[in-house]
Amino acid sequence: MVTSGATSEKDRANAPNTGLEGVVVARTELSDVDGQAGVLTVRGYNIEELAHNATYEEVAHLLWHGALPTAAELGALQERLVRYRQLPDETRLAIDVAARRMGPMDALQFIVGSLIVDDPDPDDESYEGNLARAEKLVARVPVIVAMYHRQRAGLPSVEPREDCSLAANFLYQLTGVEQPAGEVTGLNTYLVTVADHGMNASTFAARVIASTASDIYSAVTGALGALKGSLHGGAPGPALEMIQEIGQPERAEAWMREAVASGKRLMGFGHRVYKVRDPRAEVLYEAAVALADETGEQEALALAREVERAGVQVLAESKPGRNLNTNVEFYTALLLRELGLPQDLFTPAFAIGRTAGWTAHVLEHQKSGRLIRPQSEYVGPRGLRYTPVSER
Ligand code: ACO
Repeated sequence: MVTSGATSEKDRANAPNTGLEGVVVARTELSDVDGQAGVLTVRGYNIEELAHNATYEEVAHLLWHGALPTAAELGALQERLVRYRQLPDETRLAIDVAARRMGPMDALQFIVGSLIVDDPDPDDESYEGNLARAEKLVARVPVIVAMYHRQRAGLPSVEPREDCSLAANFLYQLTGVEQPAGEVTGLNTYLVTVADHGMNASTFAARVIASTASDIYSAVTGALGALKGSLHGGAPGPALEMIQEIGQPERAEAWMREAVASGKRLMGFGHRVYKVRDPRAEVLYEAAVALADETGEQEALALAREVERAGVQVLAESKPGRNLNTNVEFYTALLLRELGLPQDLFTPAFAIGRTAGWTAHVLEHQKSGRLIRPQSEYVGPRGLRYTPVSER
């Protein structure tokens, strides 16, 4: 029999570190995750500092250029982002097709791929060209998500506005109604909080694609594919389902004990880098609490708090030494639900925020990076002879 990988216990024990944990694959000035201290630094700022003060547009500029924008720079950026909200006709057609047949993340990947159609010079590989594309992607991903959603729901299409922020416009296009300032602030906080996060899987995917001198649309569609998985950006929906299924605070501990005992993973817990609580969890919890009076979600948040406590305790007992704590996805689910997003738009909302980070990494790699081409350790047989099909 031809073996294709390390399958036995012994092989597994001897297998290389296949998750690349601890391996440094790039030098970056964009963000740093200190998993022991629970600190996320974005371009020199703690994430709490940005989440409490900055707009998503400011953070996109910060990621792309290394400094917060001046008033003039911000005004000019906002003006361009508003202009870019108008989608090419072909992209609108792609939305039509996707809304009929595809789930949200597949749709987003498919539709974003179409954005190359109105690129004035797709062969232009200049840094400036990619910066303009980065701005377009950040402006357009939220418009695509909102238009796709309304179309699949059979709701009349809502055109983008020109007089409001990216967060406000997204909520407006999604719901068809101008949303209160509190909701806009809540979404802005979310988008800032998830804008960048070290060498996570989707960012790595984007950098690998960029490193081949491919285009930025390919890098972002590749990143979307990586984000979709439940071990990365696909967790908030299942996290919310878990909280809903638990239903009552007093059921949390027993439910989680049973889930872990039966080999299930608790969604919204655990992280490759954080060995303490993810700092973004508190930022998003606070944002959810700030909206709770208006949205009537106090009870759900109290339940989530107890589910969190019980989850951390159960995981500490059943996986000692693993340091499994709450990650960003746990309160993402509650905050996005408060903002009125349907569950299957949680991961697309993550993508809206992370587009700033992905594109900043592509730009950074373009400046300094080399082709990313690691090696693998071959553990299969060698020298086999071909047998005609009739003899097998
Ligand atoms: N629930 C139960 N057990 C867990 C969990 C969890 N959430 N997370 C890790 N473990 C256990 C594993 O079963 C494993 O136990 P074992 O050694 O006894 O087999 C041990 O902890 C180590 O797990 P790994 O998979 O090696 O750790 P890794 O660093 O690869 O995992 C990950 C990180 C994928 C995020 C994991 O914690 C997980 O699956 N969490 C649930 C999904 C989730 O919340 N994803 C969102 C992550 S945040 C983000 O990407 C934006």
